Amino acid sequence: MSGMLISLEGIDGSGKSTQADRLLNHLRAAGHTVTRVREPGSTGLSEAIRGMLLEHTDLNLSDRAEAMLFSAARAQLVDEVILPALSRSEVIICDRFSDSTIAYQGYGRELPLEQISNTQELVTRGLVPSVSILFDLSVADSLARRAESDDDRMEAAGAAFLERVRNGYLALAAKDAQRWLVVDATGSIEHISGEIIAHVESRIERP
Ligand code: ADP
Ligand code: TYD
Repeated sequence: MSGMLISLEGIDGSGKSTQADRLLNHLRAAGHTVTRVREPGSTGLSEAIRGMLLEHTDLNLSDRAEAMLFSAARAQLVDEVILPALSRSEVIICDRFSDSTIAYQGYGRELPLEQISNTQELVTRGLVPSVSILFDLSVADSLARRAESDDDRMEAAGAAFLERVRNGYLALAAKDAQRWLVVDATGSIEHISGEIIAHVESRIERP
C-alpha cells in the first residue's frame, strides 16, 4: 500500500492544529492529495464519541472506559477514512493518533502500558504512522496558552497528569527515533513550520 500517514502529537495547546493547517496547505500546493483528520472525531460515530469524552462531565467515565472510547473512535476512523485514503495513495494528516492513547491513558491515567499498546494493534489493524511529530511543550506553557479558553473534560485533569503525558511522549519518541521528529513547540510558528515541511519533504514520494 502506498500513501502516507503523518501524525501530530503533543499535549494540549502545543500547536498541532496550527501546524496541521500549514502542512496541509504546503502539501496540496505541491500537488499531493491530502486528507486532514482530527482525533477523536472525523467520522459520524467518532464525533459522537468525542462529545461523550470531552463535553459530558456527568458520565463519570472510568479510566478503562475512556481508553476504550478513544480507541473505538479511532477504529471507526481507520476503517471509514484512513485505510480507504491510503489505498488511493493519499497523504493523511492526523491531529493525534494511537500514541495519544498510549501517552494520555497509558502514561497519564497509568493504565497498564503494554495492554494499552497491544489494544492499539487491533484498533489500527497494525497501521503505524510513517512520520510522527511531537510538539514538545512544558506543562506551564500549555496551561498559559489555554488560560483564556474553558477546559474540556481531559484538559481539566490537571498539571501532574499532563506532566506524565509529556514525559510519556518523550519516552515514546526516544524509543523510535526513526519515526519521530521532536520539535520545540516554543519556537516561532514560521520556524516550526519550516522544520516540519523539510522533514516531511525528505520522507515523502513526489506526487
Ligand atoms: P493544539 O492543536 O496543539 O491544541 P493550537 O494549534 O490550537 O494547538 O495552538 C494553541 C494556541 O497556541 C493557539 O492560540 C495558537 O495560536 C497558539 N500557538 C500555536 N503555535 C504557537 C507557537 N509556535 N508559538 C506561540 N503560540 C502558538
Ligand atoms: P482536542 O480538542 O483535539 O485537543 P487538542 O487541541 O489539545 O489536540 O481534544 C482531544 C483531547 O483528548 C486532548 O486533551 C487529548 C485527549 N486524548 C486522549 O486522552 N486520548 C486519545 O487517544 C486522544 C486521541 C485524545
